[in-house]
Amino acid sequence: MEFLDLKTQQNRIRKPLEKRFNTILDHGAYIMGPEVYELEEKLADYCGVKHAISCSSGTDALLIPLMAWGIGPGDAVFTTPFTYVATAEVIALLGATPVFVDVYDSTFNIDCEKLEIAIQDTIKAGNLKPKAIIPVDLFGVPARYRLIQEIANKYALKVIEDAAQSFGGSIKDHKVGTFGDIAATSFYPAKPLGCYGDGGAMFTNDDDLAAHCKAIRIHGTSSDKYNSEVIGLNGRLDSMQSAVLLEKLTIFDEELEMRNKVNDYYRKYLNNAQYIPENYQSAHALFSITLGSHRKRDELVEKLKQNSIPNVIYYKYPIHLMKGFAYLQYKKGDFTVSENLSQTIVSLPMHPYLSEIEIDSIVEVLKK
Ligand SMILES: Cc1ncc(COP(=O)(O)O)c(C=O)c1O
Repeated sequence: MEFLDLKTQQNRIRKPLEKRFNTILDHGAYIMGPEVYELEEKLADYCGVKHAISCSSGTDALLIPLMAWGIGPGDAVFTTPFTYVATAEVIALLGATPVFVDVYDSTFNIDCEKLEIAIQDTIKAGNLKPKAIIPVDLFGVPARYRLIQEIANKYALKVIEDAAQSFGGSIKDHKVGTFGDIAATSFYPAKPLGCYGDGGAMFTNDDDLAAHCKAIRIHGTSSDKYNSEVIGLNGRLDSMQSAVLLEKLTIFDEELEMRNKVNDYYRKYLNNAQYIPENYQSAHALFSITLGSHRKRDELVEKLKQNSIPNVIYYKYPIHLMKGFAYLQYKKGDFTVSENLSQTIVSLPMHPYLSEIEIDSIVEVLKK
């Protein structure tokens, strides 16, 4: 059994993918070739946004908009400590300060009440200027964007949707990619839409922001590639990776439907999985359950191992307790929901090609 089965998927798209690779080998435009622009058009269409801007990773997709807004020392950016480290890292990289906000124990996404309190506390303390919020759509479930946007409007903050795990998700008929000022996704191979290396994309309806992000992506250049207008970086997606994504997009909706079925089947037997609110479509990047205690979680992990059932703990350490972020001077007990989740959560196999027989065998171990 696989935690994630990329081989079966590859077998489905191998022939047309090889054809696309051969086309690239023939035309030789490895960087910013036609596949990159074709992909951006299709991604924008898929999400229903004006601009999809491909880039080199999900991390850069978060970093570039922060750079475009000139966020840096003295600025506060609000996010959660229960996410992949990249979300907080990009804030710190620019010399700004990550201000953590705990998550709901049901969806594992940013708690909006605590978010507003954190913003007010930061304003009161007076040493940092609140600038932006990075809500994370954890494991594929979108955060509460209606509330988040209300708070952002009230305090004049920018919003970057960290959609690294949620491309394909939606709230009612609004697709992930359309929330906030800009959204950032990752095409890391394990993501619902992944390439065969690193990759990412930004999505926005803001023409100026899109132009700015496009320039930063290529060393701050726009019309003349040897004349930099703003400080940028090498943040491009290449043609080969775009080709992989173009082929995977052709089966993406079907795969999302298959992920929905796997999710539904698991939930027939389990009542301790991540909560997905009504009218929310998860991209089902991961299927995570919580156990009653740290001991129970670790016992289950051991049992799963004994039965050759792959599993991973996302995330074993909340970011505020990581050594790399010790300089922020948070301590144990600051974000109890995140801390408790890191002790009690485990992710089970989740991919479109997981069979009911395989899920039955997982549930069997869980029941025991
Ligand atoms: C929530 C979240 N944000 C950001 C990233 C960074 O994406 P990438 O690995 O493509 O740089 C990831 C990747 O795992 C992620 O899960």
